[in-house]
Amino acid sequence: MRRKLILDVDTGTDDAVAVMLAALHPGLDLIGCTTVNGNIPVGFCTENTLRVLDHIGRGTIPVHEGLARPLARPDFPVPRHERDHAGRYHPDLLPVPPTALRKQATGAVEFLIETYRAATEPVTLVAVAPLSNIAAALALDPTFVERVPELVIMGGGHEIGNVTPAAEFNIWADPEAAAMVFAAGFRRVTLVPLDATHRALISREHCTLLAALGTPAGRAAADFIGHRIAVHDAHQPQGVPHTTPVHDALAVGALVEPALLTTHRLHVAVETQGALTIGRTVIDTHFRGGQPPNCEVALHADAAGFADLLLRSFAAKA
Ligand code: RIB
Ligand code: CA
Repeated sequence: MRRKLILDVDTGTDDAVAVMLAALHPGLDLIGCTTVNGNIPVGFCTENTLRVLDHIGRGTIPVHEGLARPLARPDFPVPRHERDHAGRYHPDLLPVPPTALRKQATGAVEFLIETYRAATEPVTLVAVAPLSNIAAALALDPTFVERVPELVIMGGGHEIGNVTPAAEFNIWADPEAAAMVFAAGFRRVTLVPLDATHRALISREHCTLLAALGTPAGRAAADFIGHRIAVHDAHQPQGVPHTTPVHDALAVGALVEPALLTTHRLHVAVETQGALTIGRTVIDTHFRGGQPPNCEVALHADAAGFADLLLRSFAAKA
C-alpha cells in the first residue's frame, strides 16, 4: 500500500526536490502540499510548488497556502539566508516554466485540521519548513496532536547550525512555533537535523547522472541541486568540495527507506529566549535533563543510499 503524506514546504530548491520525490515515488501518495513563509515569502513558495508539480505531471496534487509570517513575531527575522537558492530567473522563483495551476481556496491550516479530522487511514505529516502552520493547527484544534500518527520534521542541528552557530533555519525562523510543536506530545516524531542532512551530500557527479536520466524530474533536480552546490561553494563550503545537502528530500526519502537514517530516541526542546542561541534545538544526547524522549533524532545518514534513491525515483518517465 502506498504511504499517504502531506508535505509542508517553503519551496526553495531542496523543498522542490522533496516535492518531486514525494510526488513521484511509487511507494508514496502525496495527498497535498501546504506552504508557509520561510526560504522566501509564502506566495512564491506556493507558486514554486505549483510549478514543480506541473512540470513533473503531478498537477492534480492540491497546494494550500499557509501562514505568511511567524506565529509570535511581527515579521520574518531577516536576512533570508536561502534567497540565492531559489533560482536564477527571479530571485524567488525556481527555474521551471510558469504554470496555469492555482492554489486551493482552502488555506493550509484549515486543510490540515480538516484532513486529519476526516482521515480514515494514516497520513504522515512531513514538515520541511518553519513550523508555523503546524503550530497554528495545534492552537486551533486541541485534537490535532492526537490525530497525526507520525510527524517528520526537517530542522534543527546538534553539532551544526546554518543561520547562526547555534541554530538551523527552519527552527530559527519561527522558534515559538517550533517550541510548541516539540512540546505538544505528538505520538511519533522523527527529527532530521543538519547532522543527518550534512552526511548525505549530493555532488556535481550526481547532478550529471540526474540530468542524464532525461526526465523532467531528473533534469530539474540536477538544475536545482547544481545551483545549491554553487551557492554552498560560495558561502558555506562543505567538507567535501562541490557538494550540497538536499535537506528536505532526505526527510522524504527516509519515509520509503528508513535505513537511510540512523536515529536515537531523545528529548528535544527549542530555545526561544537566548540572545546567542535563539532557535536552537536542545537535543539531550546524554539524558541530562530528565525529560522522557519525544523524538527519534537522526544523527547520521547514508549518503550513497540517498543519491541512489534520487536517481531511481527520478528515472521513471512520468
Ligand atoms: O536548514 C535547512 C532548511 O532551511 C531546509 O528546509 C531548507 O529548505 C531551508 O529552508
Ligand atoms: Ca525547506
